[in-house]
Amino acid sequence: MKFKFFNKNTDKEVKIKENIPQHVAIIMDGNGRWAKSRNLPRFMGHKAGVEAIRNIVKECNRIGVKYLTLYAFSTENWKRPKEEVDLLMSLLLEYLKKEVDELHKNNVVVNSIGNIEKLPEKCQIELKKAYEKTKNNKGVVMSLALNYGGRDEIIYAVKKICARVKNGQMSIDMIDEDMIDKFLFTAGIPDPDLIIRPSGEKRISNFLLWQCAYSEFWYSNINWPDFSPKDLQDAIKDYQKRDRRFGGIK
Ligand code: IPE
Ligand code: IPE
Ligand code: MG
Repeated sequence: MKFKFFNKNTDKEVKIKENIPQHVAIIMDGNGRWAKSRNLPRFMGHKAGVEAIRNIVKECNRIGVKYLTLYAFSTENWKRPKEEVDLLMSLLLEYLKKEVDELHKNNVVVNSIGNIEKLPEKCQIELKKAYEKTKNNKGVVMSLALNYGGRDEIIYAVKKICARVKNGQMSIDMIDEDMIDKFLFTAGIPDPDLIIRPSGEKRISNFLLWQCAYSEFWYSNINWPDFSPKDLQDAIKDYQKRDRRFGGIK
């Protein structure tokens, strides 16, 4: 199957071949710097960051990306001033209340990963409602990573596995990669093929540590609120040129 990409510069539709990544994960970074460069308070950057999500989700649906994971709040982001954390939580609530109907119409599954039990109760309720409403949709599965940390996720999985070994439900020999996958927040979701980090930082910041073993990385200097479908297309076109060997040879 061939997908058509709209190229803003030439105003022409450019065909690109198959090999669309099945799972794209994005570290939505640079909201603060986006605001700072405009002499705006940080919260305006976060607001603009939420706005940027809509078109990216639509683009994923259009080109056939099946899974989109968005890093929205890390286990380390609690270190930020309470004011900012509260604001991020209220933006999450507002986003869910405002956008879920539209996401549902667009066939999106609204999922979350991370230890959401530590989020304000209102957010947890809206997240559960959103998932219940959209879980049977057939479009892109959008997972919001909230209070998510790769290390936290691994600890959580280890504890669950140990408990099962201890009570005799499982033996140590049963522990392998597939088994661990099943105990992660991302159970049932394939590993990310492509991880995108805008804002110029080149680090993983505790995102999908287990799952990124063979992911392709793509960085850009654009701050997240300015990240457009065209940038996603650029990332995918670059991804399509990569030779993924998974440790083997061709
Ligand atoms: C990403 O933007 C949003 C969250 C981490 C919640 P930042 O707030 O990290 O923006 P910068 O890195 O300060 O520019
Ligand atoms: C990563 O961004 C987390 C999210 C985008 C949610 P940070 O801004 O928290 O990462 P560091 O602190 O620059 O590594
Ligand atoms: Mg940042």
